[in-house]
Amino acid sequence: MGWFRTELRYDMFDLARSADEARRMVKCESIYHRGQVLAWDGRDILAELIAQHGGVRIADRTKAEALSRIFNIILWGELAAWRISAQLADRLVPLEAKMAATSQAFDEARHFYVMHDYLRALGFAPSRLDRAPQALLDIVLDTDDLAVKLLGMQLMVETIALTLFQMVRELDVEPVLTELMRYFERDEARHVGLGMQYMPSLMARMSKRALLRMVTQQARIISWGMIECWSLRKDFAALGINPREIMDRARKKQLAALGEAYRAVGLDFDKMRNPASMTINAALELMFPPVDGTPLATRARSAWTAFWAVDEKVDKTELDIHAGHAIKTARGHVATGERVD
Ligand SMILES: [Fe+2]
Ligand SMILES: [Fe+2]
Repeated sequence: MGWFRTELRYDMFDLARSADEARRMVKCESIYHRGQVLAWDGRDILAELIAQHGGVRIADRTKAEALSRIFNIILWGELAAWRISAQLADRLVPLEAKMAATSQAFDEARHFYVMHDYLRALGFAPSRLDRAPQALLDIVLDTDDLAVKLLGMQLMVETIALTLFQMVRELDVEPVLTELMRYFERDEARHVGLGMQYMPSLMARMSKRALLRMVTQQARIISWGMIECWSLRKDFAALGINPREIMDRARKKQLAALGEAYRAVGLDFDKMRNPASMTINAALELMFPPVDGTPLATRARSAWTAFWAVDEKVDKTELDIHAGHAIKTARGHVATGERVD
């Protein structure tokens, strides 16, 4: 009876929902509609910004090279995000989550071509990635596990990107990029929103074993992220960025995004301890001491303390800054900021 088999999911409206899940699905649907209202024209905005600032120029060659190496990773990260959100748009079953992923794919396509054109204006061509960033992106691209895909992309990779965008914007390394970051951040904040709203639905249906598998993959992603940060340390230093600050800020954002998902399935993320996160806390102190040149013995002591420390309190407002930027949309309006929730 093979001719009865179909890829159409006629059950997409049948899934039983709790009141809380229904509320989160309404938010997923609104991510799609906000994506339409807030869509911006990448060609127009980049051209306007370049005209306004008289080109893309960084006088210091070392700084320009450092920036291009970091944003070469962002460029390929945007392509990965584009493909991953398209995978999710295909595979997520509930209508609202499918809609949100579809609008993300549209946003990521824009991020990819705008970043490509920006780097060209800066005088750099895309190049192959080093091992760490590629390994990190490949974990999320290759997995068939939807929970790992959603967690890896929407909650881990997006929050790392948001941290970098925020720091580069605050340092005002190059004025066109500073302005562009507001546009990127505004979109990425919605993408984190999809993870925050839909992750609990996936987690609630997972076995303990599947949850453990997900946490293990999460630890692998964080480890590659740390190695990536380590290999870029000279480039960060050239721009005046402390890699430890990236890790700390990204972690705060991840806690804000993940904490919600864990709480929705009855787990207290603030008090959760597992060997993976304990090891990561310790490795962070060893590799990235808050003060450069800290002796190994001091770092090892901090690592020991961090290994046993309970994670800090989750601050839910940590992500709001990214959705708070006013942007000019393709409809010709200036869209004022909003909150992520
Ligand atoms: Fe993006
Ligand atoms: Fe994104």
